[in-house]
Amino acid sequence: MAEELQIEHTSEFYKPSQSVIEQANVKEYDEQYKRSIEDPQAYWAEQAEELEWYKKWDKVLDDSNPPFYKWFTGGKINIIHNAIDRHLTTERKNKLAIIWEGEPGDVRTFTYHALNREVSEMANILKAMGVKKGDIVTIYMPQIPELLFSMLACAKIGAAHSVVYGGFSVEALHDRIDDARSRVLLTADGGYRRGKATRLKEIANGAMKRSPTIEVCITVKRTGGDVKMVEGRDFWYHDLKEMPFAKGKCETEVMDAEDMLFILYTSGTTGKPKGVVHTHGGYAVYTATTLKSVFDLKDTDRWWCAADPGWITGHSYIVYSPFINGATVMLYEGAPAHPFPDRWWGMIEKYGVTVLYTSPTAIRGLMRFGSDWPGRHDLSSLRLLGSVGEPINPEAWRWYYEVIGNKNCPIMDTWWQTETGGFMITPLPITPLKPGSATKPFFGIDTAVVDEVGEQVKPGEEGYLVVKAPWPGMLRTIHGDPDRYKEQYWSAYPDKMWYHVGDAARIDKDGYSWIIGRVDDVLKVSGYRLGTAEVESALVSHPDVAESAVVGLPHELKGNAIHAYAILRAGLQGSDALAKELRTHVRKEMGPIAMPESITFVEELPKTRSGKIMRRVLRAKALGQDVGDVSTLET
Ligand code: PRX
Repeated sequence: MAEELQIEHTSEFYKPSQSVIEQANVKEYDEQYKRSIEDPQAYWAEQAEELEWYKKWDKVLDDSNPPFYKWFTGGKINIIHNAIDRHLTTERKNKLAIIWEGEPGDVRTFTYHALNREVSEMANILKAMGVKKGDIVTIYMPQIPELLFSMLACAKIGAAHSVVYGGFSVEALHDRIDDARSRVLLTADGGYRRGKATRLKEIANGAMKRSPTIEVCITVKRTGGDVKMVEGRDFWYHDLKEMPFAKGKCETEVMDAEDMLFILYTSGTTGKPKGVVHTHGGYAVYTATTLKSVFDLKDTDRWWCAADPGWITGHSYIVYSPFINGATVMLYEGAPAHPFPDRWWGMIEKYGVTVLYTSPTAIRGLMRFGSDWPGRHDLSSLRLLGSVGEPINPEAWRWYYEVIGNKNCPIMDTWWQTETGGFMITPLPITPLKPGSATKPFFGIDTAVVDEVGEQVKPGEEGYLVVKAPWPGMLRTIHGDPDRYKEQYWSAYPDKMWYHVGDAARIDKDGYSWIIGRVDDVLKVSGYRLGTAEVESALVSHPDVAESAVVGLPHELKGNAIHAYAILRAGLQGSDALAKELRTHVRKEMGPIAMPESITFVEELPKTRSGKIMRRVLRAKALGQDVGDVSTLET
């Protein structure tokens, strides 16, 4: 059923130590979970009380028009008031909010006071450029503090942001700008990655050429390379910062709880990526609660979520919820093993990082260099570890646990999605762990594993993962396409309003969840989410390619790797040189993460009678497996 790497399931338990249990913010799971499922609204109302509202909500959940659920309706809030403003009148004002290290080794730090100043200046500039409440601003930046300031500034003035991951290229950026109809683009000249400067503004220029909606482009100077600026459209951020309009206080806009906070594009099964919509109120409550409970965040913590802020992990757990919880956030610009494989471990020691949250791909990548590299550093400041994005294989889990955590740090394997806003199935620090299992659902999250018709499968059996009731952090819609939202997520079981996850999973006899992988045409490559359709359309945009199909095959480091099949236009011959050219073409159009590992030239592709490519058949053939039921195959 699932398309991904099978992971050996184990029944051994790793129990947290007494000291971990004693300091945990959440002390008990079973009873509280039961209560939260019986009365989710009471649970979420209690959590919402932890935030500051300009006006309290009238209703916790408005479910009058499913699946268009609304949370905390009538409530007035701004996530920035909770993430920044309210700390300024407390001792947190002078606490470090951000410790940032650039790849070349430059360091910048910001207290909450300084963060507020930076965000306010950016917000004033956006206002001066005509950005208004409800606009969608596209942000395309490397991992520099200004990326965070830009996102927070948009939220402060009530504009929504659409962050496009800095590793994407021209076509991907252009598509997203167009869909969001952004007038303003925030970017940088480049960033550092493996010792080299990337050329973001050049890519932005390419995208803007095709995207007529952009009227203003603001560029942060990071690398100092030569860039082309267009008079009247392009401005340097440092110049704007000197203008009188940038200075002074900026009021935080009062928002409805359900007002849009951001859209974030993610890959789906068909066509173009879809803009997942999240809101100020429910998202703030959900991300703040999950972070505080799962990673046990305290004022004394130095929290490092080593994801890119451009993905949901970064949005929820670098940019918003750590600040709501008043934490110190660590941010690093570059590659984990640059210039040496102990870069991360050195930073943990240097800054006294207490919680590290990263992906299995990053762990496997660093594990490859051996245990001597982390062994050179004192990692004893760590008290908890985390994993996200793909199933973690027990071998990587044990290395992370034993070598990085010194057997003292429980690993929070958090299962969730761009659409869910925050952690859904996850351990708490008090949970006995099984390597490779995301354990149990979070409070208020009602999950099940079912078959095609919605019947719950037996313990240990594989099925489709569903969520049976709404939760505050859930996406509200797909930007500009409410029908697709309904169809894609809520229509799998017609008589039931269940959220269809798109993952295969099993729940074992102890009630532990094991995520197996995607069941649709979505690939997880190094933890990045890509649609086969996107890579295929990048391939056919090359003049020599008539048709293409893309599948994911297991890969030791990346989890999955992309393998492509191409039918060339009549009269053309495949060659190594052309395969290389096509791989480069995809890289140029979409970005390095989408570059196929291999290209196979074929005369035809297996299709159903209705013309749908049977990727399952291609994949089985590539793996030397039985192709299974091909009764619908066109002959
Ligand atoms: O297949 C699941 C996998 O990542 C998908 C969601 O991808 P994305 O929206 O990019 O969000 C990633 C970060 C939240 C899921 O449908 N996935 C995510 N976390 C895990 C996981 N698979 C197994 N274990 C996880 N902990």
